Amino acid sequence: MNLKLQILRRESPDASPHWESYEYQAQNENASVASVLHDLNQKLDDPVRWECSCMQKKCGACAMVINHRPRLACDARLKEFNGEIKIEPLRKFPVIADLIVDRSILFENLKIMRIWFAEEAKTYGSEIAYQASRCLQCGCCLEICPNFYAGGTFFGMASMTLTARILTAVPEKQKQEICKAYRDHIYEGCGKSLACREICPAGIEIEHLLVNSNAVAIWKRKKHEI
Ligand code: SF4
Ligand code: SF4
Ligand code: FES
Repeated sequence: MNLKLQILRRESPDASPHWESYEYQAQNENASVASVLHDLNQKLDDPVRWECSCMQKKCGACAMVINHRPRLACDARLKEFNGEIKIEPLRKFPVIADLIVDRSILFENLKIMRIWFAEEAKTYGSEIAYQASRCLQCGCCLEICPNFYAGGTFFGMASMTLTARILTAVPEKQKQEICKAYRDHIYEGCGKSLACREICPAGIEIEHLLVNSNAVAIWKRKKHEI
């Protein structure tokens, strides 16, 4: 199968972005965009800079915009496209080079949300904890969220998932601080359209996490299970 690839490239954070086109002969329509990038780079003098690790939808590293939709390159199959694939870096984060972006704001936001146990805590398995722990911190949900921008006060679903997880187990004293951070940085800014749910490559049931977190942090009801 003949593929026409267009990739938005940039040498460095300060350089101007420009499109480059490539022809690629794919052997298998079930191959992923990630495998095409990997193979293409073997033939290029100036390989495309991009990130990947697991190649199995488990790490979130290969998130990028493919034909205008944020998704994982290792989960985007060639048969989904009509022979033309346009690839750009995620647009909500600073570009380091080509398809590599700086997602460190995700971790800065998690620090503000205090997503850790400050003292001994009773943890237990629950559907909420399971759903939340599946978040890859890929940033796809932030790409399509109209209310998120890096450095803003609204932290988006990538922070909500991990907050929902710790709210099920954190000791009462710390819970009050996290509930306040939840109100300030998640509840206040979310329009609840759930566009992020449709885009999440992990298929996380975001609305269940939201309902549970709102019950705990906003309505002060004790609610731990779906
Ligand atoms: S909620 Fe989904 S889309 Fe958002 S960071 Fe987590 S895995 Fe990625
Ligand atoms: S529900 Fe809408 S506003 Fe809220 S995080 Fe998802 S996309 Fe953004
Ligand atoms: S390389 Fe890990 S999710 Fe794609």
